[in-house]
Amino acid sequence: MTAQLTRERMNRTDAYRTATPEGMIPEVRQPDFEFADDMPRYWWDNDPVKTLLLAALSSSFPPGEKFFIDSVRHYQDRITDPELKKAVRAFIGQEAHHSREHKLMNGFLEDRGIGLARLEKEIQGFMDWMRTRFTPERQLAHTVAVEHFTALMAEEFLLKYDALEEMDPRIAPVWAWHAIEESEHKAVAFDVYKSIGGSEFIRLSEMMVVSVAFPLFTSLHVYQLMKEDGQLSNLKSWAGAVNYMWGKPGVFRRLLPAYFRYYSPNFHPWNHDARDLVEKAKRKWLGRGKKSTAH
Ligand SMILES: [Fe+2]
Ligand SMILES: [Fe+2]
Repeated sequence: MTAQLTRERMNRTDAYRTATPEGMIPEVRQPDFEFADDMPRYWWDNDPVKTLLLAALSSSFPPGEKFFIDSVRHYQDRITDPELKKAVRAFIGQEAHHSREHKLMNGFLEDRGIGLARLEKEIQGFMDWMRTRFTPERQLAHTVAVEHFTALMAEEFLLKYDALEEMDPRIAPVWAWHAIEESEHKAVAFDVYKSIGGSEFIRLSEMMVVSVAFPLFTSLHVYQLMKEDGQLSNLKSWAGAVNYMWGKPGVFRRLLPAYFRYYSPNFHPWNHDARDLVEKAKRKWLGRGKKSTAH
């Protein structure tokens, strides 16, 4: 399938799309967040599991996003569609800024005794291992799979429910900004993968690997952070998190149909058009004293 076909003209107004909408070039913003010293230790809902889950994810962003950038950049010269070229540049810009801001956040949390530097190093090691063992095509398929996860979590988990409202207002904008941009660029790696004629077998088999490795490593890291924080026996927090994910509102349970759509031969990240949600979040969370540049 050509890039032009992948990013075909769309005039549909419903939420189901089979391609990236025309003109959907992500915006590269340059936020400048500050982390307040008097922020509570558990800044999401005063809850250890929820907070340390996001902290664990944050530790994975600097090494992970560098890997995503490199896997897409490897094919940059082979992209001929001008709109996709622009989208790739914006994708690289957005992910680079995410890395930078999360590095600052990780340093801030590390200073408070939350051991993210060790996790970051461990994840870096895993990424380095993939770089030497995986073909460039599988590395890109890895990025495509993780981008599907991050878009789902951003749209369904952070933007749809009240997660951001429950966070300390000094840290919520970082997560809102990141979620908005993950949704904006959710199809860029996928469109590149299609434009280079990436194999379906590799795309799907890599998603299966990611589906085991990502929850496994994340759960292990949350367990380790909870242990280091002396919170392992905090059953109220564990039970609350399990209920939040699988009971009410059951965020992960609700993600499952969207997750399984990935295995369809007709899958495209824009099957689910979440621009209404993103626009609402932009009005609410962006523009609070941050600089922004459009590319
Ligand atoms: Fe990101
Ligand atoms: Fe991303």
